[in-house]
Amino acid sequence: MNMLLTLWKVINPLCLRWIQNESAKQFLSLSLAEQKKLLADLSQYRGKVSIEGKVYKKWSFYLDTIRQHFQLPCTVETRRDRAVLLESLCRKDDKILLLGDDDLLSWELAQRDFTAVTASDCDGELLHHISQLCAPLANKPRLVPGDFSDQEFDPGVKPDVVCIDPPYNLRWTQIFLSKALQSVRDKDDACLLMMINPHCFGTEDWQAILDRLQRNSFELVEHRPQFNAYPLQGLSSLLLRWGLRMIGAGTSQGPLYFTSDLFVFKRRKFAQLVVTSFHPAMESANRSAAATEVEWKVASL
Ligand SMILES: C[S@@+](CC[C@H](N)C(=O)[O-])C[C@H]1O[C@@H](n2cnc3c(N)ncnc32)[C@H](O)[C@@H]1O
Repeated sequence: MNMLLTLWKVINPLCLRWIQNESAKQFLSLSLAEQKKLLADLSQYRGKVSIEGKVYKKWSFYLDTIRQHFQLPCTVETRRDRAVLLESLCRKDDKILLLGDDDLLSWELAQRDFTAVTASDCDGELLHHISQLCAPLANKPRLVPGDFSDQEFDPGVKPDVVCIDPPYNLRWTQIFLSKALQSVRDKDDACLLMMINPHCFGTEDWQAILDRLQRNSFELVEHRPQFNAYPLQGLSSLLLRWGLRMIGAGTSQGPLYFTSDLFVFKRRKFAQLVVTSFHPAMESANRSAAATEVEWKVASL
């Protein structure tokens, strides 16, 4: 075992005691094998040609970590890919609810003439920023401030499609999922999009998330690995570079990205599917076959 790995085995339990951030704690509480799998997965990502454009960023980003609420805005390409996905999944007047929008997807959708988008977030500054971006546009999104951990909070829409990019720890993922499920409680043809990196979770935790969706009659109809990329900067970039060196997956000096997968779930009533094999801890060699992991056909009743 290399020196860095040996050192890490000593440091990991100390960091677990000391660090407060729940997503960092989630990573630290994974087994060494699971941590390596996540890092190996991240090392596979080959960014597309980067498009310059507006990304939400506060000047206080590094000083104000508690108020950031796990914010990690995606690349401009990712935002566009999500909008293209929604164009293929629904009509322009379908009701879309974005639970959390530091990715500025509501702005992207407004530019593409989606007429019934609601974005909800606990960050008032972010919502103000989106309203300024959308000011010249005809189809402005509804912007609703709120805290998803408040059970009483209601974003005020029964969406056809609800989209979450939850924080990468089990507790907060479940909180975001609760709000998403609450919003589509009465919709038996709802679609739920979840951007998440399954490698961030131990097998049981990940299974708990999938089981919960299944109990709520949601079936997986599509899974696209590494659909989302989030540019890393500062300390997070440094830590990832160090982690990649530790597992022997050295990187060039270029920018590093965190990535997450796209999972499309539909209420069972409208989707009949045959899941042939799906396991989150997919080997990277299977990546090209990932799109065919889930065979599905949608059958309208
Ligand atoms: C959770 S972040 C994306 C996290 C990212 N996937 C990660 O873990 O690195 C997405 C959005 O959710 C918002 N958010 C975080 N906690 C929230 C809460 N309790 N209530 C409402 N919105 C919240 C953030 O402000 C952000 O704009």
